[in-house]
Amino acid sequence: MRDVTIENVTELVIASLGRQRPIAPRAREILEALIRHLHGFCRETRLNHTELLEACAFLGRAGAGGREEYILLADLLGVEVLVDMISNPVAANETISTVLGPFFRENAPVMPKGTSTVQQGFEGQETVYIEGYVRDPDGKPLAGAIVNVWEDAPNGLYENHDPDQPDYNLRGRFETDENGHYAFRAIRPVPYAIPDGGAAGELIRFMGHHGMRPAHVHMMVSHDGYRRLVTQIYDSSSDWLDDDSVFAVKEALVGEFRRAPEGADTDLVLRYDFVLRRMDQAR
Ligand SMILES: [Fe+2]
Repeated sequence: MRDVTIENVTELVIASLGRQRPIAPRAREILEALIRHLHGFCRETRLNHTELLEACAFLGRAGAGGREEYILLADLLGVEVLVDMISNPVAANETISTVLGPFFRENAPVMPKGTSTVQQGFEGQETVYIEGYVRDPDGKPLAGAIVNVWEDAPNGLYENHDPDQPDYNLRGRFETDENGHYAFRAIRPVPYAIPDGGAAGELIRFMGHHGMRPAHVHMMVSHDGYRRLVTQIYDSSSDWLDDDSVFAVKEALVGEFRRAPEGADTDLVLRYDFVLRRMDQAR
């Protein structure tokens, strides 16, 4: 029998992996690192038993009642943005990605080019015409690319968190034309607070941080044979660009909401072009 000690416990646990039945190489890699880092964390912080039980109860609350706040916790700790950057290295002139976030919904309505995602207007909202081109890294236009967009309303809420908004309000999928051009009408997004009524709010207060995000439009751009791009375009005039609660802002993703020309049917215009990576170049 081997006595467990502070010094040998990590090695003992790692040695148990695959002892009864074989495990996948990736499972071994992840578990070994997890055990090493968790043990290192406990040693470094001299974590006590009360704190361990508090952490377990906290994680229980994060998953209770269908809240599933784990992705928000990952966001607040900068984990989602880190994983995204590791998974999606950018090369050359490709558009940079950023976090998907928790508000994406599948099956947004497919809409004709140029139409509006606004099913319900809000007082004081500013309308915007958003357009640009989707190309490959050599500048070839990508016809038939799908630009999937979603954003918050002027009250700071996404429609699926707001019983007063119609289903799929401010969401839509738009196809690029033969020149790779996409366009749609929407409203200017506003900064918002991520939901703080549950475990995410507890973490925000524990961190002494805030839950604010700068104004952005989410964009997911896909085309057969190319890597799907998940990103967000930020409003250059927004608050919180320098202090995003989920650390997802990148300079290249900041766009300018300009005043629309005289006679336009929106208040503002935003131009943003995308470059997708070919699948055979993706890692
Ligand atoms: Fe968002």
